[in-house]
Amino acid sequence: MTPYGAMRTHGAGTLRAGDDGTAVVLAGWVDRRRDHGGVAFLDLRDRTGVVQIVADPESDAALQAAHDVRSEYVVAVHGHVRLRPSGMVNERLDTGEVEVAATSVEILAPADTPPFPIDDRVEVDELMRLRYRYLDLRRAPVANVLRMRAQTTAIIREVMEAHGFIDVETPVLTRSTPEGARDFLVPSRMRPGEFYALPQSPQLFKQLLMVAGIERYYQIARCFRDEDFRADRQPEFTQLDVEASFITEEDIHALVEELLSVIWSRVLDVKLDTPFPRLPYSDALARYGSDKPDLRFAMELCDLGDVFAGTEVGVFAGALDAGGTVVGVCLPGGGQLTRKQFDGWVDFARSRGAKGLAWAVVNDDGTLRSPLAKYMNDRETGDLLAATDATSGDAIFFGAGPVSATRQLMGALRLALARDSDMIPDDRWEFCWITEPPVFDWNDEEQRWDSVHHPFTAPTDETLATMEASPQNCAARAYDIVVNGLEIGGGSIRINRADVQRRVFALLGIDEQTARERFGFLLDAFAYGAPPHGGIAFGLDRMVMLLAGEDSIRDVIPFPKTQTGADALTGAPSAVDAEQLRALGLRTRLPR
Ligand code: AMO
Repeated sequence: MTPYGAMRTHGAGTLRAGDDGTAVVLAGWVDRRRDHGGVAFLDLRDRTGVVQIVADPESDAALQAAHDVRSEYVVAVHGHVRLRPSGMVNERLDTGEVEVAATSVEILAPADTPPFPIDDRVEVDELMRLRYRYLDLRRAPVANVLRMRAQTTAIIREVMEAHGFIDVETPVLTRSTPEGARDFLVPSRMRPGEFYALPQSPQLFKQLLMVAGIERYYQIARCFRDEDFRADRQPEFTQLDVEASFITEEDIHALVEELLSVIWSRVLDVKLDTPFPRLPYSDALARYGSDKPDLRFAMELCDLGDVFAGTEVGVFAGALDAGGTVVGVCLPGGGQLTRKQFDGWVDFARSRGAKGLAWAVVNDDGTLRSPLAKYMNDRETGDLLAATDATSGDAIFFGAGPVSATRQLMGALRLALARDSDMIPDDRWEFCWITEPPVFDWNDEEQRWDSVHHPFTAPTDETLATMEASPQNCAARAYDIVVNGLEIGGGSIRINRADVQRRVFALLGIDEQTARERFGFLLDAFAYGAPPHGGIAFGLDRMVMLLAGEDSIRDVIPFPKTQTGADALTGAPSAVDAEQLRALGLRTRLPR
């Protein structure tokens, strides 16, 4: 295949001063037209960039055609490259030193006036952009994100294959996968009343591939989860999915650190420090109030239970007596905040379900300015400053209440305070592993244990023995990879012994019959020799969102869904005709 297609000799954006005098045939879209009557200028755009075309009376036919074209017409141009007159060089264009003097301009396809200008400097409503995504993608920065995405997947394939991983496709029409979200269902015509589920991940199939002896599997896999929308979630998204046999956590960590280092280096020219820090889950919650901490800034949470043991401060004493905690966070320079701003942070805490939020400012003499100051003694004040590292001019915020909720609240506050005071550097990449999360999570509503990850995650050897006695302390051989406060991947070493799997199912209240119904095929496979194995999956969209510096994964998905799960371009989801429903044996009954 010729580099620019047989209809063209060059890419518009590739022409430079060195091409002076070259005869060229170009084709693309009219980016802009400036018609001065006697002479017309067209900016011609193709995938390589933009170049200026000049049509003047030397070629009457070309000038005539240039008068007729409009923005976004598709045209072919014959001509030759020439240097722009001095003083007319356009520094903002890569091709700014040259122009193409047209001998002919041929209209290949006319175009209606687009609903928004194809100009990346113009802000356009997102719904409009998605409705006309093919026009939105004509804008260079939007198309460049797709290029960056393609570059990322190409690097992924290269690195994975260098390590002996093979790309295996797993089905999209399948059974429910236990990842915890709702399934998208597809009715079966051949077996009326029965449904396929779209995979929430290829989890079960990749484990089957390990039983099959593939040993090193990867796939860039589409996953489907019917869950609530957020900026970092889509109902249909892409994972880089990985599984390997005869490995430990260290193998996965080393592979991922290499992979991410290569991607960051080639895509962004950024060198990452490896190995990434490993932060046990319980430490992450205690120090940052989050299982996806943003480590670009310090402001660690501080457990003040010891400082305030036996305190006169009523809310603190109440929380501690009830088995709860007091957590502090210091905002350097926070003494500058006005009373109204402090009240704003109290409202922030209340809006997140807290009863309140206390605060104190450190005076120059080491005393505190705070609504609580009169209840604190000198020992407490001294210990507080030592524990939080607060000095003159800083503010300390306090949350008091049940341990988990208070840590979470203070974690959210830490992040919001840092954002609000512009303390988060946007040129840093802080990766970390969050390790050994709990295997089980108590579901208070349904009074039972749930899997934190999925039911095939192996407990650590140390906590397996006491799993039934204290499920809450059972730690998983699992790991999440977090960067700048965003979880981009997660995985685990799996259970490969039937007896352990049975015990985990029993704790989760999955009886033998249910286990057989849901995962019988996997359990059967495991009976035929399952190697020790484990893996990880990355959210590819989230990874590209970070690389591209975008705020939403919609920006890095070629044809994303809107906040309401709709495809603004095709109009999906949509009603289907009665005949289709009849063939499937379905009838819709909508709530009135
Ligand atoms: P998990 O459910 O943690 O693990 O998913 C792995 C990664 O996929 C991304 N992700 C999403 N991205 C966009 N939109 C969504 N709705 C969405 N949901 C998840 C996240 C997440 O870290 N099978 C296991 C992996 C394993 O154990 O190997 C799994 O799917 O970045």
